[in-house]
Amino acid sequence: MRNLSVCLTSDLFHHYDEGNKLVVVVDILRATSVISTAFHYGIKDLIAVSSVDTAKKYLNKENYIVAAERNAEPIEGIPFGNSPFQYMNEKVKEKTLVLTTTNGTKSIKLAKNHEVICASFVNENAIVNYILNSDKDVVILCSGWKGLPNMEDSIFAGSLSEKLLKTTEFLTKCDSVLSSISLWNSSSDNLFDFLENSAHRNRLKHLNMEDDTKFCLSPNFMSDIVPILMGDKIIPYES
Ligand code: MLT
Repeated sequence: MRNLSVCLTSDLFHHYDEGNKLVVVVDILRATSVISTAFHYGIKDLIAVSSVDTAKKYLNKENYIVAAERNAEPIEGIPFGNSPFQYMNEKVKEKTLVLTTTNGTKSIKLAKNHEVICASFVNENAIVNYILNSDKDVVILCSGWKGLPNMEDSIFAGSLSEKLLKTTEFLTKCDSVLSSISLWNSSSDNLFDFLENSAHRNRLKHLNMEDDTKFCLSPNFMSDIVPILMGDKIIPYES
């Protein structure tokens, strides 16, 4: 039997950071939704960087596209932001995407000593299949917001956890798994409405980005690609 845990925010990851686990990084609004979408539209690979200054070093490199977000807003002077709609076009094909976001890319780098994959509602089915073909214990790492838990990442963790626990492969001793599943079951009829008063939906609403939220919670396509961390790059795995 394999152990399943949910880490509700990256600031708690030190409690899970032992052994060699399969860490499923989640940042539904919007980093891992963006990552899944960008791979679906054909980027070659992705470099998650910690700072805007590091991202800017790639601005004039051929076959690279550079994206940055802080506090849900794009950064002046950097062509791409963290909206999934920016990646739904031919411009991204075969490019290396350099990305830095407030929380999501930080979570990816935090878990780099483990096997790391990026999950969202865009590629959830592919993520389930990838996990079931592994033999490692699993930690679903919710990025949260600046060290605090958020609802959308916990809801996705509940959706994924429920699917994994329905198999005979997993057991859990983690209350965050149980609370996430309860949150998922309370919200799955209409995630957008359920999150009406949530912090990040309202941050994005005030920036006129409600369409991003609607897409990330209920994408209009599914991707078969699992973005997996290999060294300092994230590459596409397609079973
Ligand atoms: C994050 O990394 O915290 C989010 O993706 C922020 C955002 O893009 O809204």
